Amino acid sequence: MALVSTKEMFAKALNEDYAIGAFNVNNMEIIQGIVDAAQTENAPLILQVSAGARKYAKPAYLTKLVEAAIIDTGVDVALHLDHGEDFDICKKCVDDGFTSVMIDGSKHPFEENIALTKEVVDYAHAHGVVVEAELGKLAGVEDNIKVDARSATFTDPDEAAEFVERTGVDSLAIAIGTSHGAYKFKGEPYLDFERLKKIHALIPDTPLVLHGASSVLKEFVDRCNEYGGQIPGAQGVPEDMIREAAKYGICKVNIDTDLRLAMTAEIRRVFAENPAEFDPRKYLGPGRDAITRMVQHKIRNVLNCSGKK
Ligand code: G3H
Ligand code: 13P
Ligand code: ZN
Repeated sequence: MALVSTKEMFAKALNEDYAIGAFNVNNMEIIQGIVDAAQTENAPLILQVSAGARKYAKPAYLTKLVEAAIIDTGVDVALHLDHGEDFDICKKCVDDGFTSVMIDGSKHPFEENIALTKEVVDYAHAHGVVVEAELGKLAGVEDNIKVDARSATFTDPDEAAEFVERTGVDSLAIAIGTSHGAYKFKGEPYLDFERLKKIHALIPDTPLVLHGASSVLKEFVDRCNEYGGQIPGAQGVPEDMIREAAKYGICKVNIDTDLRLAMTAEIRRVFAENPAEFDPRKYLGPGRDAITRMVQHKIRNVLNCSGKK
């Protein structure tokens, strides 16, 4: 039981065409809910912390809570920085004991993204930490751009190969149509599988990462709304598309929105059924159980990594 690298877990996933869930964590209940699911399913696990989560919980709390979860359950966890925007935050996380960091230079021009990524790779590798980078932009539907313009922001396969070669990065997040949050597609869901296949063919040994991979199941949106929520017509990545992507090099699937929806729906239910409730354990506990159910569903039915630890 330990904090582990993603290196071995990705090599196995790449070989066997399944993916590993990278779940965003913000507090104790979310960490416990996810780790319990991974323990029951005997699945490999990545817990990821965004800059916003680090700020919300304060850095020491999340790392200590993850360590506590490992002691409590014996589950191996890769602890990953999600969307590090500069060298400084990546360095801090390496120094804090993270086993993996993401440097997200996707908003920069190609050469600047390479230079920034290389700087992080040099520091992280010298400390035994692996690095994820991103090439291409995850435009959201809220950006209100047409499909053609949107696909121009997708990852270019030749650039992806050059990027990996020149940076020595360990894994690469690519843009093929997903976006963050609950509103991913205006019309029919669409992922550019031909582009994914080309990228995978050019860099077959590089684990690929799918951000914005929540499926935003209607059931959970409806449940939030049934109990007083007002979440309008959300739409996520269909689960069969995630399963398909895992066949072409997608090894890490990032999920945050689905956890938020599952937890919130359950907490709303508790309040709707018990308006007099004010003991946080009585609503955070069921919220934690809802996270466990969601993560077990992902591991078993979507990522196909049950029993792969
Ligand atoms: O990609 C973003 C993740 O969902 C984290 O979101 O920055 O609100 O913590 P956050
Ligand atoms: P979702 O918003 O689809 O859950 O994506 C999360 C993510 O990509 C975190 O980096
Ligand atoms: Zn992301």
